[in-house]
Amino acid sequence: MKVAVVIPAAGIGQRMQADRPKQYLQLAGKTILEHTVGRLLQLPQLGQIWLALSAEDPYFEATSLAQQPKVTRVLGGAERANSVLNALHAIDAEQFPWVLVHDAARPLVHIADIENLLQQCFSTQAGGILATLVRDTMKRGDGASPLSKVDHTVSRQQLWHALTPQLFPTALLRDCLSQALAAGIAITDEASALEWAGHPVLLVPGRADNIKITQPEDLALARFYLEQQ
Ligand code: C5P
Repeated sequence: MKVAVVIPAAGIGQRMQADRPKQYLQLAGKTILEHTVGRLLQLPQLGQIWLALSAEDPYFEATSLAQQPKVTRVLGGAERANSVLNALHAIDAEQFPWVLVHDAARPLVHIADIENLLQQCFSTQAGGILATLVRDTMKRGDGASPLSKVDHTVSRQQLWHALTPQLFPTALLRDCLSQALAAGIAITDEASALEWAGHPVLLVPGRADNIKITQPEDLALARFYLEQQ
């Protein structure tokens, strides 16, 4: 069975402090977005990729992806979840009953991890996400600013980092996401919408080098991981 892929790439990547959105920064001779889409294009189960881009995006046309027949452009939204929802509205859920959502800023994802995610979700018929177990001791602060004080220690047992891709039945994700957004729920990944609506989400262990490029120092780390892979 072929799956649909949604890649939200309409963010401005403010935390990178760069002259352009982070998905258009160079990594080993290509943009981060070209790396990310290039990996997904290698997936044997790939049907089509829906790429959510900002209305004011002067960079995409200059990439090799603009001519890629497996890539369809859709308009991004105000937040990541709106960008994903716009893309979901463009997908025929009967043709593609399952959809993978993957951050544009995660160029190092392994195809083997995605295939494992597909296998686990298809065999249980539940949605699921790639995730890694938390290693550090976790603290909740009394605020979010630097030099806030520790409020308490959160047990790291059973705590996971949510990565992408995340895989869900297409119609279910579309319904949960639109209802959660309408209810004003803060959604930073697709799984949150399913959890909110009471649906199970599998945690499928993935490799830790599937980092999301967020801050300037992440680019050097991504270069290092790319050389190692
Ligand atoms: O900002 P953050 O790193 O959480 O963004 C995750 C992904 O969501 C990025 O690939 C970014 O381009 C995308 N995004 C989007 N539309 C927005 C904001 C972020 O597609 N309005």
